[in-house]
Formats: sequence, C-alpha cells, structure tokens
Amino acid sequence: MMPRIGDIAPDFVANTTKGKIKFSDFAKDKWVVMFSHPADFTPVCTTEMSGFATRKSEFDALNTELLGLSIDSIHAHLGWVQNVRENTGVYFDFPIIADLDMKVSKLYGMLQPNESETAAVRAVFFIDPKKKIRLIMYYPLNVGRNMDEILRALEALQTSDKHGVAMPLDWKKGDKAIVPPPKSLDELNARLADDSVEKVTWYLAKKSLN
Ligand code: BEZ
Repeated sequence: MMPRIGDIAPDFVANTTKGKIKFSDFAKDKWVVMFSHPADFTPVCTTEMSGFATRKSEFDALNTELLGLSIDSIHAHLGWVQNVRENTGVYFDFPIIADLDMKVSKLYGMLQPNESETAAVRAVFFIDPKKKIRLIMYYPLNVGRNMDEILRALEALQTSDKHGVAMPLDWKKGDKAIVPPPKSLDELNARLADDSVEKVTWYLAKKSLN
C-alpha cells in the first residue's frame, strides 16, 4: 500500500549521486523533502531540479535535506547534472536516487502506472525528523511543481509544530495563525473572554506568532 500522511516513511537502501544511503540513517534530526521526477534530460524536470538547487539555501535554513529520485541510472544522473551545470551554471548539490529497479518508486507510490509505467510521477514527501510523513504532493508528468508552495508548506508544518497552531488558507511566514478551537464549554467561555486573540467567531480565532 502507498504510504500515507502520518505513516513512518518506509526504509530503504539506495544508490545516489552522493553515494549509497540507508534512509533511516539519512539526515538525522532533520526534515527531508524527498521528491521524484520522471526522467533525466527532460525539460520540465530540468526546470524543477534547477528550482530545488537554486533555492537549496532556503531548505538548509529550514533544517531540511533534499533527496531526489528518478528511474534512471547513476550514469544518466551524473551526465544530466554535469550537462545542466555546463549549460546553466546550476549544480544539483543534493543526492539523487538512481532507482533503476523501481524499488523506492514502488515503495512510495511514485510509480502510478495509469500515468506512466516506466517513469515516476512528480511526488513530494515531506518527512519530519522522526521520519513521519507529514504531507504528500503528487503532480503529473506534464505539469511542474511550485517551489514557493513547497517551501511555504514546509515552513507551515514546522511553524504548526513549534507553536501548536494551525495554518489558514494561503498562510505565509509573518501571518497570523489559527489557535486550536475550544473543546468544552469552559474553553469556549474562556475563548469568548480572551482579548489576546483575534476572533472571527468562537471556533475561528487567530493570533500573531511574534
Ligand atoms: C519533462 O520533464 O519535461 C517530462 C518528463 C516526462 C514526460 C513529460 C515531460
């Protein structure tokens, strides 16, 4: 069965452009954004991988390691990384799994045969430091992802954890967050009397995080 939100990320060993990794030993105490792309040397994938590469410092700042994957060989990965570096100056300085036997793609439900039997879809798994899957995105072969949204979602997850709040529509850093709604009449009455939060109504209240 495909892993779902809340599951512990399935463990695996894989060859990557940065050497062999065992996932359970990878990025200790860090978040991982693990993502697949359909194929090396293809145009949309090149834009996406370049997006991850050029914004890597933003992932670093969020204590997050990047881990790419496609159903290609290490040689194809190396050739593509070098080709993009030569042509654009962008260097994919994070491990990319060479999943030639489709082991990891199948384990994570990245191979969705009605979309393609040979190429992984564009999946993104957000995995927390306890290796729990916290958010999953799937995009088809013909539409690239949105890097602003990937970073926004990562920061929203981390902010939610840190402050015990939930994030409203379009939340971004600096915006107010939603405080948990009351679970009893006592809590409801306390919420009504609480002027420190911005209340739309008793079950929808927001507060500033700084
Ligand atoms: C692309 O990245 O451009 C691509 C890859 C596989 C199928 C279609 C497009």
